Amino acid sequence: MKALKKIWMDGKFVDWEDAKIHVLTHGLHYGYSIFEGIRCFSTAHGPAIFRLDGHIDRFLNSAKIYRMNLGFSANELREACIDLVRKNGVPESYIRPIAYTGYGEMGLNPLSNKISVSIASWEWGDYLGKEGNDGGVRAMVSSWVRLDPRSLPPQAKCSANYANSGLAKMEAIAAGVEEAILLNSHGVVAEGPGENVFRVKDGILSTPPASSGILRGITRDTVIQFALDTNLKFYRNDFTREELYTSDELFFSGTAVGIAKVREVDGRKIGNGRSPVTERISALYRDVVHGKVAKYSKWLTRVDM
Ligand SMILES: Cc1ncc(COP(=O)(O)O)c(C=O)c1O
Repeated sequence: MKALKKIWMDGKFVDWEDAKIHVLTHGLHYGYSIFEGIRCFSTAHGPAIFRLDGHIDRFLNSAKIYRMNLGFSANELREACIDLVRKNGVPESYIRPIAYTGYGEMGLNPLSNKISVSIASWEWGDYLGKEGNDGGVRAMVSSWVRLDPRSLPPQAKCSANYANSGLAKMEAIAAGVEEAILLNSHGVVAEGPGENVFRVKDGILSTPPASSGILRGITRDTVIQFALDTNLKFYRNDFTREELYTSDELFFSGTAVGIAKVREVDGRKIGNGRSPVTERISALYRDVVHGKVAKYSKWLTRVDM
């Protein structure tokens, strides 16, 4: 990771190398932290943060689910993200707000620990490597089941959830493919370790509903909006492992991955290799995040450098 200049910690900007916390930080031990992943893209008018309000909203909802009082308003957090991009001075970056139970008491009752909030940013290229952008990634159905909403709420972006994601990701890498797809405890498709999943069959686009135990992705919502706006037939519905194999097209969506075509699942080639719907959505997404489509400019927060 290449260091940038500043990190925002509890309301103040500190130098990158000084953004340190104590080893007995409560959240580090018990997974009690919530976070966001946001991207800032270059546009003709300078850097712009994509769907910042949606990400801040989800951050506050994660905090609510975990009874965390952040001590900062949505507006303060939004302004902190904008200031951070300005101070770090790079045209494209990934922005990571995180809130966690701080140093103080240890033990499983987090309620007496102060909540600390930080926002960092760094330059992050293609999350799934070159294949995510070009020919498509190979995926496997994980032997790890997506966490059950009765155990950990998947709609809260809590660090603890990512132990489940990490197991699936490591399994995929060890098997020689780029990414995992997790089924839920009912045996139907949930999502990737850090992405939502979309399927195209007979010209119809579909993605698992929120009730399947997924994170409600902001990129997922963006894709759904594209489908509605372009009269592409779309459903939120459960699909099975077999239906992954027999899809005409499959793709992942997420802030880190963008829109990433899946070309193979468990050694089965998806469709005939062509992916016109994925390509259309992916091209529109790229244009939108780079500020080339006036209709969606409402989703971009410009940062005056
Ligand atoms: C588990 C999981 N699902 C889906 C997504 C995609 O969400 P978004 O499009 O908001 O990045 C992410 C990324 O944040 C994730 O971690």
